[in-house]
Amino acid sequence: MLLLGIETSCDDTAVAIVRDGRDVLANVSTNQDEFHRAYGGIVPEIASRAHLALLSAAVEHTLNRAQIALDACDGIAVTYGPGLIGSLLVGVATAKAFAYAARRPLYAVNHLHGHLFAPFLSHGESPPYPFLALLVSGGHTQLVAVDAPTQLRILGKTRDDAAGEAFDKTARLLGLGFPGGPALDALARDGDARAIAFPRYRPEGDALDFSFSGLKTSVRYFLERPENAAVRREDVAASFQAAVVDVLVARVAAAYARGSFRAVALSGGVAANSSLQSSLRAWAQRNGIELFVPSLAYCTDNAAMIAAAAEAQGEAVRVDPLHLSADPNLPFERIGSAA
Ligand code: KG4
Ligand code: ZN
Repeated sequence: MLLLGIETSCDDTAVAIVRDGRDVLANVSTNQDEFHRAYGGIVPEIASRAHLALLSAAVEHTLNRAQIALDACDGIAVTYGPGLIGSLLVGVATAKAFAYAARRPLYAVNHLHGHLFAPFLSHGESPPYPFLALLVSGGHTQLVAVDAPTQLRILGKTRDDAAGEAFDKTARLLGLGFPGGPALDALARDGDARAIAFPRYRPEGDALDFSFSGLKTSVRYFLERPENAAVRREDVAASFQAAVVDVLVARVAAAYARGSFRAVALSGGVAANSSLQSSLRAWAQRNGIELFVPSLAYCTDNAAMIAAAAEAQGEAVRVDPLHLSADPNLPFERIGSAA
């Protein structure tokens, strides 16, 4: 199928055209960072107003770039949750209008499922089922068994902060801008990851959960102690990053050992982290495991992954364009809209 994807769950106004869930003909994303930077975080009201101002033009621009008419698309895929209600509503209303006007089927995609299918985009090969997915973003950190496109099981998740949130909060402690993840990653490149032994969270028993708030707090205490004033920020960044990456890789290894997975896939904004990518690659290589990592543009929020998920989940997520509503608290398990 040739699908038009729309993603507006947070602060990226994103549109894409994807063939057969893998060939990306156009992928347009308008980042709103400059509108939110002054506030040190995303302001929901600003995000929804920006989506409203940008989305229609973004759809037109994407169709032009792919040299495709709306009529040539076989369907429209849109994120309907979870996310910011105002932001979601703009995407859902726009997708419904286009689907209704062009008389094309509408596919309602769970944003988190979108991330799971990002590794299928523009790759020679697709991950074989069942695969183990590590989804690490600003709002979520979870290990998922992807048994089939519509058979998804959460094996472990964070008990407090998401990995991206930990990066953003720690970056703020280090005086880096927003969003902090990429800036911290860059700073850590010049640091010594063994300089400071920050704690690595271990869940009790055989749980596969994560926790990052204790780590963030110990970075804060470390920075507040006068005797640490001279410690290089690069070393703090690298040591913090190593603690996050160690925990993520350890939990992937533990989950993998327990299932009969055929591959591992990484996705979400934090998948862009250079140290996480190299550590996971080294682990996969040592153990002869196939690892799928989306290219950078498909790690962070984008609309191509929404089209990829709609292609994979097909009829299960097809909805009536007149009755779809946004669901800011959409549970991970929900596939297709209830309406
Ligand atoms: O998936 P995403 O674009 O949005 C959510 O759905 O949350 O993820 C954004 C998160 C932010 O917390 C950002 O700081 C983090 O991904 N991130 C990174 C890197 N690039 C983005 N974290 C660490 N290293 C990076 N290179
Ligand atoms: Zn996301």
